[in-house]
Amino acid sequence: MDNQADGSSPLLVHGGQLNEVAQRYQIPLEKWLDLSTGISPINYPIPAIPENIWQQLPQPNQAMLSAAKNYYGTQNISVTSGSQAVIARLPALYLNHINQPANGIEVWLPEVGYKEHERAWHDAGFTIKNYQHLPTCEVLSRYAIVVVINPNNPTGELQQQQTLTTLLTTLESLSGWLIVDEAFMDVITPSQSLIHLTANKHLFVLRSIGKFFGLAGIRIGFVSAHPSWINKLQQLSSPWEVNGPAQFITEQALKNKVWQVAQQQQLIALSIRLEALLAKTFLPNQDKSNDPSITISGCGLFKTLVHPQATELYQKFCCQGLYVRLCDEKNALRFGIPDQEQYQILAKSLAEHSHS
Ligand SMILES: Cc1ncc(COP(=O)(O)O)c(C=O)c1O
Repeated sequence: MDNQADGSSPLLVHGGQLNEVAQRYQIPLEKWLDLSTGISPINYPIPAIPENIWQQLPQPNQAMLSAAKNYYGTQNISVTSGSQAVIARLPALYLNHINQPANGIEVWLPEVGYKEHERAWHDAGFTIKNYQHLPTCEVLSRYAIVVVINPNNPTGELQQQQTLTTLLTTLESLSGWLIVDEAFMDVITPSQSLIHLTANKHLFVLRSIGKFFGLAGIRIGFVSAHPSWINKLQQLSSPWEVNGPAQFITEQALKNKVWQVAQQQQLIALSIRLEALLAKTFLPNQDKSNDPSITISGCGLFKTLVHPQATELYQKFCCQGLYVRLCDEKNALRFGIPDQEQYQILAKSLAEHSHS
């Protein structure tokens, strides 16, 4: 990550910046197909919100919290204004806890993955180590922190529960931390979540309401950790961070099992359809004579196309009014899941690409 003049990391680009992109390509907003994020195209329907919830200062919503305990299967949980808020706070929590300078402590982060983790630890002065494959006990030092994005965004790589449990045991013996970002876990069946293990003081699990429930705008997420950490994180936060209407909507969404099952099924079906379309376009040869440097991976909330001409394709798609995410390494495009209507537009755009 290249630093700014003051040593901090630059602001990161994540997708979802349609206003800016539309202006750059001089195409009106309404003409774009925006598949630049990993947010579900189908959102939990917004219920009628009682007026007093808008009017009052937000209070901790106990009914929402019990719904979260039930949905995530843990008692050790706290609501936050998006999982991003926790990512930004964990380095301060660690520094408050340990009497050591940050630069002597190694933080292992996936080489390819949501870069806000790296930004937070880097800016707090920790020593950054990037991994392609999970670090083994031989390379981990005392107090090491390992961040795992599971499934990974944008590669979709999924670490199995058993692998992470073993890593947790190693980190516990080193007095370190395992941080598992499960922002995209809701579509993995059967779940490989580690959230039921957060009685362990060396484990933090982050969850997001934005992706699976398609409600990124309400800014709600959760952190699961040992109660002593939850208390300390609450001390680091300021009052009224999570607004009342967002808590009200989240309570309904977390309780609605019928909607959740239907959402899972729809996302899986739509993502399979997207993968097939990408394969037809970019890997058209059934006989395995396709370019081996082109691959498609992902999960039920996005599909990622690794392609040697990713940057050129990104620009070409933008000129057609198709906005996807050019990954940080500039070697891949991440496609959000299109709903039925968006799929038709995408299929047309990709057919134009195939014929040009
Ligand atoms: C892997 C990952 N974790 C966390 C976040 C933050 O999500 P939120 O703050 O909306 O919960 C994102 C957002 O894109 C993400 O990709």
